[in-house]
Amino acid sequence: MSELVSTGVEGLDSILTGGITEQSTVLVSGNPGTGKSIFGIQYLYTGVTEHDERGVYVSFEEDEADIRGAAESIGFDDFGELVDDERIVILDKRQMLRETDFSTAVDKLLDTIEGEDFDRLVLDSLSMFQLFFEDEQEKRTYLLKFSDILKANGLTSLLINEQGAVFPDTEVGLENFLTDGNIYFIQTPTDSGVNRYVWVAKMRKQDIDTDIFPMEIGQGGITVHERAGGFSMMSRSDEPSF
Ligand SMILES: Nc1ncnc2c1ncn2[C@@H]1O[C@H](COP(=O)(O)OP(=O)(O)O)[C@@H](O)[C@H]1O
Ligand SMILES: [Mg+2]
Repeated sequence: MSELVSTGVEGLDSILTGGITEQSTVLVSGNPGTGKSIFGIQYLYTGVTEHDERGVYVSFEEDEADIRGAAESIGFDDFGELVDDERIVILDKRQMLRETDFSTAVDKLLDTIEGEDFDRLVLDSLSMFQLFFEDEQEKRTYLLKFSDILKANGLTSLLINEQGAVFPDTEVGLENFLTDGNIYFIQTPTDSGVNRYVWVAKMRKQDIDTDIFPMEIGQGGITVHERAGGFSMMSRSDEPSF
């Protein structure tokens, strides 16, 4: 049986009955502000601090300073030190977008991961990555190849998928071929802010709970509440319907 990799979010690991399958590629989808980048940061941070596993954060969206700042804002005070010590390596927007030629940018990523002992990777985001391809077929073929390269290098990866304002966004359709797993982050507006939810729609080879669970973002990052565990503000009728 394959080993399971902890996501760094306890409640989510429970939903996944332990974590995500080693060397799988999991799509993390959601609208802007739903917590996808925070989740990626938490996955890499806890990978180092709790499992001594090195990680790579590839960002087409943000600069290294933004990522360090986001980690500090949720209380991961030594995140910067881990980056300094190359326990976590960040390839940020400036580095990735400096190359006008896409294959050179990807070569930079491959140079980083090949022959190194990384275990975890976050790509933030795939949506940006896809813009380099005009043809749908070419894009899909490339993404499959890319996913295989990540696996071949022993990486368990989160590929972040930035969705539009409407949920579900069927336009991307990556789920159909990047199918190791699908995690959605959802937010619904309320008078006092937002309600946040996580939904594991699919996880290949794993027995998962496909209900939608409430979550919060705060100090320590993302916390997912088990419905049975007395998240008393929630009742069936308050749940979002899609
Ligand atoms: N320290 C914090 N405490 C509470 N909420 C936070 C904190 N840091 C970030 N957030 C929330 O997380 C959201 C951003 O999450 P982020 O991971 O950047 O979203 P995404 O990558 O999906 O666009 C912010 O809109 C904010 O509401
Ligand atoms: Mg983000």
